[in-house]
Amino acid sequence: MTFRRTKIVATLGPASSSPEVLEQLILAGLDVARLNFSHGTPEEHKARARLVRELAAKHGRFVALLGDLQGPKIRIAKFANKRIELAVGDRFRFSTSHPRDAGTQEVVGIDYPDLVKDCGVGDELLLDDGRVVMRVEEVAADELRCVVLIGGPLSDHKGINRRGGGLTAPALTEKDKADIKLAAEMELDYLAVSFPRDASDMEYARKLRDEAGGSAWLVAKIERAEAVADDEALDGLIRASDAVMVARGDLGVEIGDAELVGIQKKIILHARRYNKAVITATQMMESMIHSPMPTRAEVSDVANAVLDYTDAVMLSAESAAGEYPVEAVKAMARICLGAEKHPTSQKSSHRLGHTFERCDQSVALATMYTANHFPGVKAIISLTESGYSPLVMSRIRSSVPILAFTPHRETQARVALFRGVYTVPFDPAALPADKVSQGAVDELLKRGVVEPGDWVILTKGDSYHTTGGTNTMKILHVGDSLV
Ligand code: G6P
Ligand code: MG
Repeated sequence: MTFRRTKIVATLGPASSSPEVLEQLILAGLDVARLNFSHGTPEEHKARARLVRELAAKHGRFVALLGDLQGPKIRIAKFANKRIELAVGDRFRFSTSHPRDAGTQEVVGIDYPDLVKDCGVGDELLLDDGRVVMRVEEVAADELRCVVLIGGPLSDHKGINRRGGGLTAPALTEKDKADIKLAAEMELDYLAVSFPRDASDMEYARKLRDEAGGSAWLVAKIERAEAVADDEALDGLIRASDAVMVARGDLGVEIGDAELVGIQKKIILHARRYNKAVITATQMMESMIHSPMPTRAEVSDVANAVLDYTDAVMLSAESAAGEYPVEAVKAMARICLGAEKHPTSQKSSHRLGHTFERCDQSVALATMYTANHFPGVKAIISLTESGYSPLVMSRIRSSVPILAFTPHRETQARVALFRGVYTVPFDPAALPADKVSQGAVDELLKRGVVEPGDWVILTKGDSYHTTGGTNTMKILHVGDSLV
């Protein structure tokens, strides 16, 4: 059996909300459905979430739901005529007092009063993900006066970033706070926080999530220059999160595209080092918004992320608003499988030189060492409550599938994000203690994952239903009678 290890996150939107398209996305290999809280109403998100869960269940699939908070993206207001065209050398102003719906060829309103305070003469401002660039020439009490360096169209509500970062809006807006409550109500599996500056933004989000009664794992979107300024900043943010996203759109604008490839590799490496899952996002298949096949450059980009050992690759507009959402998921799945054949996808450096912090981590890492070095091991069974044990296992490169055996819906969905991890619904407490190993292996025999003569590794703790309790690794010979 060939398992695709790298997971696919696809954003749902107008192009992918009908039951027909959603069903096809799920059959094409969707692992995590992303709901973008920057667009759409709570009712729309709820309807999509319900459909995803229904259709996944219909096909015996486990698809996680990820809500993505809008965050404090700083945006311009509106133009009187929707859109203007700027040329190099044009003068243009951002004003905190200009009417919000009456932008002109010379000036547009901005809803972020601190912009004037945060910016100085000589700063470069990037609009619409860098498509238009201006330099600040003069700072007045209520406006920035700029000159256009790269011209192009500018339309309503386009985002604005500063080269080098440092615009200091707090990470959670009032809308985000309301959406954290919505996420709890919807029992989302993951919640992505946009533009966190440091660990304290993630801690605050965690507090709000807890107060709302949610259990979503928190994903830090790495998209500010400050977040990657040095290892201390990056690692602090990673450690305060459950997973991270390489959010290449805003990040690329702030640090410059030339830095992006190196930073992507670093974020993935560091996330894995701290036992966190990581998603690589933005423009991976951009041309597929209008084309049924990706460019060679896009194929290379997805494959590069796979070789970097990302847990998941993500589609944004390609699946939310594009003409070929199903083809985009299929293409991603195909490219991931291809790149996973490469030896660097399967070989591990085993954290040589590291010490382990906990018993369950030690068992998880010993399991991977054995799986990679004992010929004949075809699968790993991890009895898990929260998904933590398979998460740690999947930080190590391997070609052996990791099967998270758990009775919990939340965990079944959550592990959908982890590279090389698949789930089997299973409650060890429902069997006599001496029948658990046999019962678990039988599930794999039934699914055709293993056959008699194969080896399987199983991990568990002394009692059932104790997260963090794993202290045992068993090596089982399929076909023997097991206890
Ligand atoms: C299941 C097993 C226990 C194990 C636990 C680990 O409940 O039956 O024996 O200790 O999972 O869960 P974790 O959340 O730490 O992966
Ligand atoms: Mg972003």
